[in-house]
Amino acid sequence: MKIIQQSVKLSNGVLLPRIGLGTWQVKNGDEAYQSVRLALAAGYRHIDTAEGYQNEESVGRAIRDSGIPRSEIFVTSKLESHIKDYDGAKLAFEKTLAALGFDYLDLFLIHAPWPWGAIGQDCRDGNVAAWKAMEEFYKAGKIRAIGVSNFDPKDLDNIITRCEIVPHVNQIAYFIGLDQQATLDYCHARNIVIEAYSPLGIGYVLSNPIIGEVAQRNQVSPAQVCIRWCLQHDTVPLPKSTHESRIHQNTEVDFTLSDADMKILDAIKGDPRRWS
Ligand code: A2P
Repeated sequence: MKIIQQSVKLSNGVLLPRIGLGTWQVKNGDEAYQSVRLALAAGYRHIDTAEGYQNEESVGRAIRDSGIPRSEIFVTSKLESHIKDYDGAKLAFEKTLAALGFDYLDLFLIHAPWPWGAIGQDCRDGNVAAWKAMEEFYKAGKIRAIGVSNFDPKDLDNIITRCEIVPHVNQIAYFIGLDQQATLDYCHARNIVIEAYSPLGIGYVLSNPIIGEVAQRNQVSPAQVCIRWCLQHDTVPLPKSTHESRIHQNTEVDFTLSDADMKILDAIKGDPRRWS
């Protein structure tokens, strides 16, 4: 079976497809609608969105229009990073469901341990309050799995020591050069699946000459090397593209990087992402 058709089992038994389509920075309307339709046609069964991406309406419509049964598509959305209270989390989840046009969600994540406008702020109590709301929706069958995003080990400890359900997933920025080893080790030891967002470093990693050499040697593209590297580190990559050929190319990762190539890639350190 091809990787794009495979899944990993979360700690609660729910199956999470091995690769997902990322939709961060994909505009609501035609762009988001088309990239989701193209991805579903190319075999993706896992779509990642967030209230903060402001494209849930188009993502949901594309999924509904695809004709593929809802139960065959794994859909993730996220609680906006500034919502750190129980009532706010409940309202936001209902808003997300309405925007997507669904009656349940496969995975709902706390988008970040702090508001994006106040990175590093102590929101321990707020994260626990939001998590309790998510636990209730989970127990009521409205969400099949719950998790967090951008959480480091201490952020996860706060949830695990004070709440009932251990997060099923932690979605983090993860790409060649940004190995986040401490978070990976922490999560893998606790059966928390790591999802890799920006697995191509928002595209900036692709021009790395060492990755280019590894790609040539394996007769694949740099993007395929990046995705394969994530898979071989037991993470679930969420590459984003709005182009049909790339959406398709990012599913063609049924090759193996040798231990020697993995070592070469692991030795790359640094985050080349630029934000302007
Ligand atoms: P585009 O959407 O125009 O195809 P990440 O997943 O790390 O956020 O990276 C997304 C960036 O990488 C986008 O700029 C996307 O451009 C680009 N991209 C996605 N897939 C490929 C690919 N196979 N080859 C080259 N660039 C790609």
